[in-house]
Amino acid sequence: MDDASETSLGVYVHWPYCARICPYCDFNVHKNREIDAARWARALTRDLEYWAQRTEGRTLTSLYFGGGTPSLAPVPVIEAVIAACARLWGFAPDREITLEANPTDAEGARFEAFAAAGVNRLSLGVQSLRDDALAFLGRNHGADEAMRALKTAIKTFPRVTFDLIYARPGQDLEDWRAELSQALSLGAGHLSLYQLTIEPGTAFHKAVAAGRWAPPDEGVCADMYDLTQEMTAAAGLAAYEISNHAAPGEQSRHNLLYWRYQDYVGVGPGAHGRLTVDGQRIAAEACAAPDAYLKAIEEDPAGAARIETLNEDAQLAERLSMGLRLAEGIKLYADDYFYADDARPVRLKRLVDDGFLTLDCGRLRATPKGRRVLNTLIYELIG
Ligand SMILES: C[S@@+](CC[C@H](N)C(=O)[O-])C[C@H]1O[C@@H](n2cnc3c(N)ncnc32)[C@H](O)[C@@H]1O
Repeated sequence: MDDASETSLGVYVHWPYCARICPYCDFNVHKNREIDAARWARALTRDLEYWAQRTEGRTLTSLYFGGGTPSLAPVPVIEAVIAACARLWGFAPDREITLEANPTDAEGARFEAFAAAGVNRLSLGVQSLRDDALAFLGRNHGADEAMRALKTAIKTFPRVTFDLIYARPGQDLEDWRAELSQALSLGAGHLSLYQLTIEPGTAFHKAVAAGRWAPPDEGVCADMYDLTQEMTAAAGLAAYEISNHAAPGEQSRHNLLYWRYQDYVGVGPGAHGRLTVDGQRIAAEACAAPDAYLKAIEEDPAGAARIETLNEDAQLAERLSMGLRLAEGIKLYADDYFYADDARPVRLKRLVDDGFLTLDCGRLRATPKGRRVLNTLIYELIG
């Protein structure tokens, strides 16, 4: 896989509403309610206009509607965002426009309209193919409904991916083998397979803290992870990132921008962006609460995001923690800022000797052993 061009630019749009809040989720999500479509379309467009001024002359390679549940957004809002992106930057010929969707019948009925608006990749939050697990995960769909939505998605969009969550309490290796084998037979070219994590502030966190249930122990989780790598590779959907698996050419071009530490604009409540502007690397984070976001944008889009310039140390930490998630790793040339500190190559050599990293022809990669302890590894590497 070649690195995309340095000039690639993506846009992330955060739609913050969900029909219900999942007990494991710590994203910036809010209960769905009456939406003023025209107001949202105007606000998101203004936000895009502000960032377009700061990234003049670039062309968009990808647009990603994430959430929350963007498949609940009014279609005119999605149309307005796509039209604004086309007008403000223009799309590269092989543009990727992804929308995250929940697999309910009601949302499946809207897939045609999203495709007609220009969405060409659908990301379905299936989460599990088992009814009991879906109930545990607090989902508002069963397995049959998810399968129907997946079939409709595959008929409607050129590219489809879906998410599953494994390492659930009570799930054993054989359960996961059967579920994953079924998932691999469904014909999607891309899968995101996440281990359940217990995030602070969620209902699951409270339940685990109160001793109501516990996730499988670490050894079982590690075995499930290894099995996932083996089965997906054997099925032609090898891992290209810790939790992401794709057939050749089916990788998420938008998410690759994040992991390759390239440029992306973020609009919508709580959206993050990373941009190189006038030689400076900037980090932006929009105001998170939906109402406050709308008001801030209406007042002045320049004030709706917290913007900070990242120094070389902060950039190195971000570039490593993103890039080492990828199977392709990152490039480290002799003049890389990494080598500006003499202690870092010494630590690097030790981590290579211990089997956590490899360095070949200037390409640094985490080994499977390293990828399992990535956060600690990066901390050890840069000190
Ligand atoms: C923000 S969600 C949006 C998808 C969509 N709204 C849905 O509910 O299906 C993105 C994905 O992150 C994953 N995810 C979120 N929280 C997680 C957690 N605590 N553990 C594992 N995976 C998680 C889920 O697979 C989810 O589909």
